[in-house]
Amino acid sequence: MIDVAQLTVEEAKAELERLAREIARADNAYYQKDAPDLTDAEYDALKHYNAAIEAKFPQLARADSPSKRVGATVQSKFNKITHRFPMLSLGDVFSIDEVADFVMSVKRFLNSAADIDFMAEPKIDGLSFSARYENGKFVSGATRGDGVVGEDITENLKTIKQLPLMLPPDAPKVVEVRGEVYMAKSDFLTLNEKNAAEGKKIFANPRNAAAGSLRQLDAHITAERRLSIWAYTWGEVSEPQWQTQEEFFIKLKEWGFPVNPLNKICHSLQDMEKNFAHMTEIRADLPYDIDGIVYKVNNISLQERLGFLTRTPRWAIAHKFPSEQALTRVNNIRVQVGRTGVLTPVADLEPINVGGVIVAHATLHNEDEIKRKDFRIGDMVVVQRAGDVIPQLVEVKIELRPQDTQPFEFPHICPQCGAHAVREEGEAAWRCSGGLTCPAQAKEHLKHFVSKDAFDIVGLGDKVIEEFYDDNILRTPVDIFTLEQRNGAMDMPDLFAAADDNELHIERRLGWGKTSAQKLFAAINARRNISLPRFIYALGIPQVGVATALLLAKNYGSFDVLQQDMLARETAKLVAIDGIGANMAQDIAEFFNEPHNIATVEALRAQVKIEEFVDEQIADSLLSGKTIVFTGMLEKMTRAEAKAVAQKYGAKVAGSVSAHTDFVIVGADAGSKAKKAAELGVKILSEDEFLETVK
Ligand code: IVH
Repeated sequence: MIDVAQLTVEEAKAELERLAREIARADNAYYQKDAPDLTDAEYDALKHYNAAIEAKFPQLARADSPSKRVGATVQSKFNKITHRFPMLSLGDVFSIDEVADFVMSVKRFLNSAADIDFMAEPKIDGLSFSARYENGKFVSGATRGDGVVGEDITENLKTIKQLPLMLPPDAPKVVEVRGEVYMAKSDFLTLNEKNAAEGKKIFANPRNAAAGSLRQLDAHITAERRLSIWAYTWGEVSEPQWQTQEEFFIKLKEWGFPVNPLNKICHSLQDMEKNFAHMTEIRADLPYDIDGIVYKVNNISLQERLGFLTRTPRWAIAHKFPSEQALTRVNNIRVQVGRTGVLTPVADLEPINVGGVIVAHATLHNEDEIKRKDFRIGDMVVVQRAGDVIPQLVEVKIELRPQDTQPFEFPHICPQCGAHAVREEGEAAWRCSGGLTCPAQAKEHLKHFVSKDAFDIVGLGDKVIEEFYDDNILRTPVDIFTLEQRNGAMDMPDLFAAADDNELHIERRLGWGKTSAQKLFAAINARRNISLPRFIYALGIPQVGVATALLLAKNYGSFDVLQQDMLARETAKLVAIDGIGANMAQDIAEFFNEPHNIATVEALRAQVKIEEFVDEQIADSLLSGKTIVFTGMLEKMTRAEAKAVAQKYGAKVAGSVSAHTDFVIVGADAGSKAKKAAELGVKILSEDEFLETVK
């Protein structure tokens, strides 16, 4: 870049032409392909350079200048929606001095000496949407597109549960609510992990993942991704009902939209500075990405007086955070083995401060990713804290590559156990074929089993698991529950220690004593009753995280029902569950059809009692905890459906009537069971009475 002050008219013209081309290409990579090829800082620098030249040579500003464009052009494959009110962009600034200039310019424009209130809002790093409501009903949704024409994402938006589909009757007849669709950092990580294992696209950051998930022609794909929204502005409104941005947020909340609780009124520049410092501090801990703070004049009539420049309002500005990237060296590339055997390459880096956090490792995802970007040991690379979550390597600085580097050879055997690794057709991940005979897999499996959301056994931390595994004390989850029984008597004086070398004595290990061993046994015994969702999650079924385990528990109620259905490969019910797709259903069924897994489950069930799942919402249902029997022909539903409903409401369904039966539900032509119920004095319900109880 040439110093703007030094540019001749000819050079300025040439530079503006080059910048228009380069920025258009970068926009295309970012918006259309969801694969940015410039860092944020590089992109911002180009835009600023362009703006600076235009400020000095306004007569040279091109019709296609990036300063006159908001962003993406419309993708042809989606229907287009012309915004009745354009979706605007915001001017960016990078320092508090520039914010001060902005505040000054607002005051000057309004000819006001008094302080003006601003709403400071986290600038969500997602993509903006506009949701149109007519007569209280959600009728259409659009992306911003180029600000004038967007893409029709009505069906996709409908899949986002946070978006209200109906507004209360007192809402305006027509209102367009606008905001940001984003993906939470944790959902982004889960998606990337899953995609890496399945050889699907890896997203560089949550923003790209959100864009890739929302702009799907098949809205079912959108539905499978976890997207969230914050609402923050409006487009067309038939009857405005608010005078300030603050009042608008109150309305939004009344209407059921998520409104960021961190939005904050600032009465002065000092307030704005304080808020920015605070947000900078907590940014990394937020569950979603923000890339700056947006300041908006709070008072709407002042906003109206201020009006707009070409594409940005005069009443709002974005104060962006500095970019979180740095340059460092790859000292080593090693391959880790995960719980399911996936080989994940990891780069060990020369430790470097990236936006306040020391980064020493970064994931390289899989073989293809390394090949595509040609990461080598010794390379200088750009590290990015993608969305403040997991450090990523963005690119290699080829011009800084040392002479003697070699392309990285991805291993085809497991670096931990030596078993051969396989890469299935269409998958990107190599997997160790050693299964639980691979120490790395077995250890990760044990760690998962005792982790916080699974059996949550305090005292069995990662280090203890590693040691106990290596010393043959714990090899499988069942071993955890036989540990105390296998441990030699604890009251034996240490004097005799040498006499029983072969016996297990945890209390005699380095760092252990009687008290800590006893504590560990107590922690294990405290988990002999385990809730259904925890048990399911602990099994480590591929793709089944905490949320899915809970869904399974809710829908099946007991482990037996789940296991029976899965053994019979009854996946119809499974895929009917909102949040479980065909691919996941297949993994679940496969898990239960693997004899080794069933053996593990059986051995575990000899040690622990899995509680039946009682949904709190239905705990007060009449059927909750009751044993019921169906007999005769039901008219309104099949027997299987009735059984599922009863289980959903917490009932145990038995096959025959006994003194333990609480209710018998009697359909047409009921025979001996109804008779027996009458004899035993068991309460009899008709089909309709049964349905009443589950309403
Ligand atoms: S207000 C006229 N508020 O930033 C005002 N935008 O550079 C229009 N964004 O397109 C936008 N958080 O995608 C606004 N709290 C917030 C925002 C926000 C994120 C995005 C939005 C917009 C872009 C503008």
